Amino acid sequence: MSDLSTTYLGLELRTPLVASAGPITGTVDGVRRMEDAGASAVVLPSLFEEQLTHEALDLHHLLESSSATGAEAFGFLPEVEDYNTGPEHYLELVERAKRAVDVPVIGSLNGTSPTGWLRYATLIQDAGADALELNIYFVAADPTLSSADVESRYLDLVEAVRGSLAIPLAVKIGPFLSSVANMALRLEEAGADGLVLFNRFLQPDIDPDTLAVERLVPLSSPAEGRLPRTWIALLHGRVRASLAATTGVATSADVAKYLLAGADVVQSASALLRHGPGHAAVLLDGLSDWMAQKGFEAVDDLRGLLAVAPGADGAAVERAGYVTALRDANRGIYDPS
Ligand SMILES: Cc1cc2nc3c(=O)[nH]c(=O)nc-3n(C[C@H](O)[C@H](O)[C@H](O)COP(=O)(O)O)c2cc1C
Repeated sequence: MSDLSTTYLGLELRTPLVASAGPITGTVDGVRRMEDAGASAVVLPSLFEEQLTHEALDLHHLLESSSATGAEAFGFLPEVEDYNTGPEHYLELVERAKRAVDVPVIGSLNGTSPTGWLRYATLIQDAGADALELNIYFVAADPTLSSADVESRYLDLVEAVRGSLAIPLAVKIGPFLSSVANMALRLEEAGADGLVLFNRFLQPDIDPDTLAVERLVPLSSPAEGRLPRTWIALLHGRVRASLAATTGVATSADVAKYLLAGADVVQSASALLRHGPGHAAVLLDGLSDWMAQKGFEAVDDLRGLLAVAPGADGAAVERAGYVTALRDANRGIYDPS
């Protein structure tokens, strides 16, 4: 029997599979089913800044004036009122989830500005959460905002939350920063105990038939895991913060790949929505089988085996890989998938 245990945010976990923030963990039944299927922790869906600020934007108005039509076109992000039913219910969900399961329950806040809404971090902690995940979902659309301004915003947010919390703090960020590695280090200095890589940038589509902007969340595909995996391989051994992988975990091979890159835990949302919470057991059984086949007794034996070596020049390694891959491609050797 393989030893699947791991440590994340200082929490001792029985497996490396964590239920990602999403609809399944939005009910106590879903949380319980995730624990039964082997998830070692659950991240509850986010409480959104827009639900908590008095000066909340009228999102419907905003989106309608940006030519999106029909509430169904908005997807999950703006429909915050429907997604979870407000701060009181959220805190109640934390309390009830804590009572229902033994695995750690991680609360989640989703926003962009270091203002009063962040006091909910403490309330989530007081409701019993074992840790907090802060999802900074910010699209820097203002051309006058510099990268340095954006980065300060991230760091101010993390410092503000860290200052009010005793429980561990994970920070979920997107990949579109000019220096991900430097930001990882600075987020850690600002108080992040873990980094969740990466949140997905909701890229609206355009329907030429209906002349409407579509904002539905597409469930992920495994190929999307390559971006977070590349960064996890580059950060493993270079930051002290725990590393959680999120995006594209559909099979046990995806879990194994993230662990080999250096992830401490691997989160899944889309695959559990597609196949149900029981899919967590399929992922973990597959991971155990693969470990036995490869002769790994414990997750600790394989974690980071294929990370970029800590002493190596990551930029040079990536550049060499790029040049070689392009040379091969020009000779007709490429991945056709
Ligand atoms: C329907 C849906 C709802 C989600 N809700 C949240 C959320 O409330 N907070 C959050 O941080 N991420 C949320 N996510 C993002 C997931 O937690 C996860 O990071 C992302 O989907 C990538 O993982 P996956 O490829 O396993 O789906 C949501 C994703 C989906 C598909």
